[in-house]
Amino acid sequence: MSDQEYDLKGREIIVVGGGGYIGAHVCKMIAENGGTPIVFDNFQAGHKHAVKWGPYVTVDLRDRAATLAAFQQHKDVETVVHLASSIEVGEGEKQPEGFYENNVSGALNILMAMRQTQADNLIFSSTCATYGETQNMPLLETEVQNPFSVYGKTKLAIEHMIQSYHKAYDLNYVTFRYFNASGADASGDIGEEHDPETHLIPNALKAAAGRGNRMKLFGTDYDTPDGTCVRDYIHVNDIALAHIHAIRAMDEGLSQAEVNLGTGEGYSVLQIIKAIEEVTGLPVPYDVGPRREGDLTQLFANAARAEEILGFTPQHSSLENIIQTAWNFHKTKWGI
Ligand SMILES: NC(=O)c1ccc[n+]([C@@H]2O[C@H](COP(=O)([O-])OP(=O)(O)OC[C@H]3O[C@@H](n4cnc5c(N)ncnc54)[C@H](O)[C@@H]3O)[C@@H](O)[C@H]2O)c1
Repeated sequence: MSDQEYDLKGREIIVVGGGGYIGAHVCKMIAENGGTPIVFDNFQAGHKHAVKWGPYVTVDLRDRAATLAAFQQHKDVETVVHLASSIEVGEGEKQPEGFYENNVSGALNILMAMRQTQADNLIFSSTCATYGETQNMPLLETEVQNPFSVYGKTKLAIEHMIQSYHKAYDLNYVTFRYFNASGADASGDIGEEHDPETHLIPNALKAAAGRGNRMKLFGTDYDTPDGTCVRDYIHVNDIALAHIHAIRAMDEGLSQAEVNLGTGEGYSVLQIIKAIEEVTGLPVPYDVGPRREGDLTQLFANAARAEEILGFTPQHSSLENIIQTAWNFHKTKWGI
């Protein structure tokens, strides 16, 4: 399937968190496949300028009545993509209450509103951070989930709520466990704009362009070929594309699935830095520091289930394309 192969036939799809990094790419992909994304967002982290493919409703998920009212305004919608959450892992350790409220209460309010408005299909963005410490790479969906961080714990709690709604109320769902979302749309119009930015690639690009601090490399003594941590980077447009496959699969009768979204390939921090230097032609200045608490040595997906159940394989996730598109986006943003 190319990016534009499943005809959504003008269907409206609610995208909660559609003003954010991944949400904006999901909205564009829905529009490219003939649908209309309806964004629900409070813009605490997302951007109104990233909402370009349909209307938006400004709503805070923590407000149960307002969330229900937003769903009632769009009560014919059957399919909901839920991406809104607090995502900054360090903040979760310091302010767990706010994290549980935003992520877990917010998700419960969505589930309640979906039940009341009979919206039966949910695609939820969970994370590989629900798995916790393990040596079993590549990670299968059946791996024990024992998250280390508050962030991962909130996502696992939501996975459990969704499973309960499936069992008791016939909610159909696909829970995606994303690995590292990265890259940007080829247009250069939308990309990663977190504040604070904690992700490796945008921070390394900022350091290379002299627009941010020198990069911090946390630990060079891991048990990997070059001593730095290994992660699985999947292009954000592949994540978006997988959502279209999930909508089609649910249309065809899929009622329940937990699915890894990764490429199956891991790259170390030093490999990413080298690739950035090659693409940009600029050195990435960095300082080596001690290991960061909670960072696992390596994390990469077994990506077979996405192919088996959804017929999805990544199309955009070569490391070069990830870095080139992220670089194009940042250059457009900075006007260089
Ligand atoms: N970026 C990654 O690498 C990655 C990896 C694994 C999982 N995920 C998950 O994917 C989802 C999207 O990530 P992202 O990088 O696009 O994050 P993001 O911060 O760019 O987007 C999240 C959006 O949710 C909105 N939001 C947050 N709380 C809200 C609330 N209470 N009410 C309404 N809107 C609210 C924000 O304003 C923002 O637009 C998140 O759930 C995240 O946990 C991301």
